[in-house]
Amino acid sequence: MRRRIVAGNWKMNKTPSEARELIETLKPLVGDEKDVDVVFCPPFVDIALAVELVKGTNIKIGAQNMYYEEKGAYTGEVAPEMLKDAGCEYVILGHSERRGYFGETNEQVNKKVLKAIEHGLKPIICVGEKLEQREQGITEDLVRMQVKIAMKDVKKEDAVNCVIAYEPIWAIGTGRTATNEQAEEVCGAIRKVLAEIFDQETADQIRVQYGGSVNAKNAADLFAMPDIDGGLVGGASLKADFADIVKA
Ligand code: PGA
Repeated sequence: MRRRIVAGNWKMNKTPSEARELIETLKPLVGDEKDVDVVFCPPFVDIALAVELVKGTNIKIGAQNMYYEEKGAYTGEVAPEMLKDAGCEYVILGHSERRGYFGETNEQVNKKVLKAIEHGLKPIICVGEKLEQREQGITEDLVRMQVKIAMKDVKKEDAVNCVIAYEPIWAIGTGRTATNEQAEEVCGAIRKVLAEIFDQETADQIRVQYGGSVNAKNAADLFAMPDIDGGLVGGASLKADFADIVKA
């Protein structure tokens, strides 16, 4: 049985003082969750504070990005060891906003995945298609390629610590959630390609999330699908609703 995982991607929201407020709100609601991995992914400047505030709870902290070099002259970037040492357990990699606005490529995502693993961080690897790609009927081809390149040279024993988040770009922040069937179809295809890369046993252990306008109303049905092991939640992770999604 795969353990469920619900992660809140705060994106570029919440100053440190606002982060404190949100965490204090959510802590009593999800802090002692035992059946689901609950992860908050705040902006970098909130991470140290978030780690401090969730001490003694079951909440884990993740980052939203990192660079693939160890250290050095990369102004503005954050290294894997910095995240690890700050207390992060997870790191979101290859989010469609990173790919779309900041030109991240599949190859860069792969470098980041390998580096994250090397430093003991668990990558949440985002994949997903644009609306025109769905309409063209190339969703599965595209997502297969994204997963294959992201997982290149990843060892089986490390792959089980990776999470894949299927996030159709047309569903992100639009209120237009994929149907349960659409989400399951692609999450199932992702598990199939993972079985091709590794083997069925490994693929059966890797958690696949759905993301894209997940909210307190639609979460339970989405998470009930056989290949959906939880969600990556944007907008709804910034309010108390997030607790209802975790309960779902
Ligand atoms: P959303 O974002 O829940 O606001 O659609 C999800 C994401 O981009 O991770």
